[in-house]
Amino acid sequence: MILLQFDKSLSLYERAKSSLAGGVSSHFRVGGHPCPLFFERGEGSRLFDVDGNEYIDYALGQGPMILGHSPKPVIEAVETASRKGQLFAGQHELEVIVAEKVREFVPCAELMRFSNAGSEAIQAALRLARGYTGKTKYLKFEGHYHGWFDNVLLSVAPPLDKAGPRESPRTLPGSQGQVAACTEEAIALPWNDLELLEKTVVANKDDLAAVVMEPIMCNTNCIEPEPGFLEGVREVCTREGMVLVFDEIITGFRPCLGGAQAHFGVVPDLATFGKAMANGYPVSMLAGQEEFMRLIADGAVMHAGTYNSNVMVMAATNATLNCLAESNGAVYAHLEALGRHLMDGLRDAAASAGHSVLVQGLGPMFHMGFTAAERITDYRTHASSVDMAKYARFVALMLERGIRLIGRGIWYVSAAHTQQDMTRTLDAASESLRTLI
Ligand SMILES: Cc1ncc(COP(=O)(O)O)c(C=O)c1O
Repeated sequence: MILLQFDKSLSLYERAKSSLAGGVSSHFRVGGHPCPLFFERGEGSRLFDVDGNEYIDYALGQGPMILGHSPKPVIEAVETASRKGQLFAGQHELEVIVAEKVREFVPCAELMRFSNAGSEAIQAALRLARGYTGKTKYLKFEGHYHGWFDNVLLSVAPPLDKAGPRESPRTLPGSQGQVAACTEEAIALPWNDLELLEKTVVANKDDLAAVVMEPIMCNTNCIEPEPGFLEGVREVCTREGMVLVFDEIITGFRPCLGGAQAHFGVVPDLATFGKAMANGYPVSMLAGQEEFMRLIADGAVMHAGTYNSNVMVMAATNATLNCLAESNGAVYAHLEALGRHLMDGLRDAAASAGHSVLVQGLGPMFHMGFTAAERITDYRTHASSVDMAKYARFVALMLERGIRLIGRGIWYVSAAHTQQDMTRTLDAASESLRTLI
């Protein structure tokens, strides 16, 4: 093994700290080993940093790069389209073409609106749910992330000693500076507990506008819904008059073209998308059934944005969706096969090195954690049993061997990853796990 050098990243980081807060442009880029790295370029499954180090990348821009880095069809589509203009403060045909495609793929998508970041799309969903129901509060789940804005950065990673009893958690802010009243807007519950959800919904039905969730809890341990949970929540929301919102910003277009709602066969009223749909270009989308979306259509609920559906982003979305839909979605079989191979290989490598790990997820995205737990189905079990400090040490060992992972434990696989990448990754994992303490 050749140990990598990081001199240029370290010196750029020192320089960056005097002009960028913390040397970075997002909270989630603070830290890392040996510092937030500076990259020069990305190509296929690889990233190249300013020190000339090459990595097989499983961070994939925190999920979006489903086709890998710099895919030709996407870059060429953006280049060609943007030569004709960038932003018209008006409509252009590409956005209709994209919306028509999404309608074909995503079960709940009768009408759509585009925005830029996932955090914006969630705000639109909440406003629409409130406009539709005339009610204010919403129900969310511990460990689910719906963006960084005041009214949703709640109980995402609450410290267990402050989170209150499991059956009636305290809704906790994630940052200083959040408006205190936000915690009163949201009721937080443990996920995957249908009985508790039903009880809570019935008790608060006069106040609750929406139930919002990641249909697979990708932001904590990549937890799948328990059998019957999504169906049960769907039934409770319909019966008690709440809008069901799936936050598919990670799951959209990742396990299959129709996202988690198609994968599990449960159709929400509204859903939000982003990340994988434009392979790194900043798009997000609120999609929903006509009955709800017509409030936006007729202007009763306001949704806007200067950069919404700009030419570059719509061209990228169109090209990405074309690639994903090619050959009947063959790319998904590739993602699944490589992902499952990695998951099995990581389990085997950990067992041989004497570490207890839990690797769970669907393949195109999955989570690895050091824990003796055999199954994790909610945030509290994750927070009380997964050794995140040990995982950070594993991430550093992997980085030294040319494998780039996300510190939270989630892995993303792209269409550009190859069988050789898997072999190199699993060799690096075996070596790292043998060294890891
Ligand atoms: C499930 C989910 N919702 C919302 C967001 C916020 O999206 P963005 O970072 O694009 O604002 C994220 C981001 O990671 C996410 O994972």
